[in-house]
Amino acid sequence: MKGIILAGGHATRLRPLTKITSKQLLPVYNKPMIYYPIETLVNAGIQEILIIIAPEYAGHFLNLLGSGKEFGAKFTYEIQEEPRGLADAFIVGKHFIGRDNVTMILGDNIFDHDFSHEVQNFTSGGHVFAKKVPDPQRYGVVKFDENMKAVEVQEKPTEFLSEYAVTGIYVFDNRAVEFAENVRPSDRGEIEIPDLYRQYLERGELKVTVLDGMWEDAGTFDSLLRVNNLMAMKNGVEKETLFDSY
Ligand code: DAU
Repeated sequence: MKGIILAGGHATRLRPLTKITSKQLLPVYNKPMIYYPIETLVNAGIQEILIIIAPEYAGHFLNLLGSGKEFGAKFTYEIQEEPRGLADAFIVGKHFIGRDNVTMILGDNIFDHDFSHEVQNFTSGGHVFAKKVPDPQRYGVVKFDENMKAVEVQEKPTEFLSEYAVTGIYVFDNRAVEFAENVRPSDRGEIEIPDLYRQYLERGELKVTVLDGMWEDAGTFDSLLRVNNLMAMKNGVEKETLFDSY
């Protein structure tokens, strides 16, 4: 199993914070945001990791993360010239993936779940992870039937589909590369990730697990602040210290 961290994009939603650096290098409590997805992959037993970055701050990532030795991993880097969409990670990463299976995680997604069981026992198909959220229209959404079998997936549905967002970690077999190459750009001009894993769903080969631990996509001011506070509390800081002022 190889790993990919997708950490490119322009992060315009976080301007001006992202005017002089990349979103995934912003602090989340006591470390840069990208440390969290790195640790998620490494803790799941993945050592060979491709980090996909935008050209603007590529040098900063290299300075910060280096070879990966410090994390017990081996890092490879690729530049994504333009944010063509999440499914593009498998096209940019085609040579890195080679003939292996691959777990892709978004550089701004923070989990407290240990994925080692799912990663180590993966054999074939696709495996994605859903979470009940109050604002599903912000995400890729999955609809289940009465037996909790996934029946439909859509990116940012305009009509209510379900309360289950698909989180930003995806475990795929090697066909992900070919499936990504089949995806046509959406109305917003991106090759969308649900259009990739829908190809597993249509073949009856998509497993969807509902997560019960914490998950945040740190891509907005509010979620970034929330995840900073959560991580501070996880590190033993008292709530009062965070919210009471002098
Ligand atoms: O967080 C989970 C959600 O992430 C999923 O539910 C959605 O299905 C998925 O499309 C994605 O939605 P977002 O609106 O959060 O995607 P965003 O455009 O913010 O991109 C997610 C991360 O990937 C972000 O850190 C930037 C990076 N990225 C994005 C694109 C489009 C790239 O590195 N390259 C890209 O081409």
